[in-house]
Amino acid sequence: MAEPVPPGRFITLEGGEGAGKSTQARRLAAWLGERGIDCLLTREPGGSPGAEDIRTLLVTGEPGRWDAVTEALLMNAARRDHVVRTIRPALAAGTWVICDRFFDSTLAYQGYAGGVPLATLRAFIDAAVGDTRPDLTLIMDMDPDTGLARAHGGGSGAETRFERKGTAFHTAVREGFRTLAGDEPRRCAVIDAGRSVEDVAAAIAGAVAERLGVAA
Ligand code: TMP
Repeated sequence: MAEPVPPGRFITLEGGEGAGKSTQARRLAAWLGERGIDCLLTREPGGSPGAEDIRTLLVTGEPGRWDAVTEALLMNAARRDHVVRTIRPALAAGTWVICDRFFDSTLAYQGYAGGVPLATLRAFIDAAVGDTRPDLTLIMDMDPDTGLARAHGGGSGAETRFERKGTAFHTAVREGFRTLAGDEPRRCAVIDAGRSVEDVAAAIAGAVAERLGVAA
């Protein structure tokens, strides 16, 4: 009989706007690939056909289009579909999953910045993810004004609904991520994202090597 395949590991990248998560997610997938580890690169909101449909509702239109509770429900509806149809099958097949944003974004954006009680959000998240939780979360920390300026430069056209929520909102997002990292230091590593792409990639590789036992 064939040996059972060990499940893949689940890595999430988190942080504010323009922190370079997508670039670094691609770099990390390539770095792991060079070490013989198969990776699936995915994102939230999105990552499955249904969740990508819900994403369009969330990231386009006026900033006040949804209140924070509605946002959280939509985010977690998308997340449920993504977990069931994309993330779990990949992990079960032994593929590592690198996800650009996951539930910490709900806690930072809809919770710390949006004012929804964290207990309410945790109930939504529990329903969406069950026991599918990250092995490692990389929190890309950056000054929000610098990040917003970068995001405006490179953003994909219409997807600016959250970017337009203002500096106070994005400062609260950053503080939220830092608090979450402090509360769960075993799962979360804070990465200073205000450095060159090369330096940030090296810091991420170091964290993955150290925490998940990958040969550097
Ligand atoms: P992206 O630009 O990184 O793809 O993410 C789209 C926006 O969605 C981003 O501004 C953060 C926001 N977001 C939340 O507010 N809550 C969530 O749970 C997730 C996953 C994203």
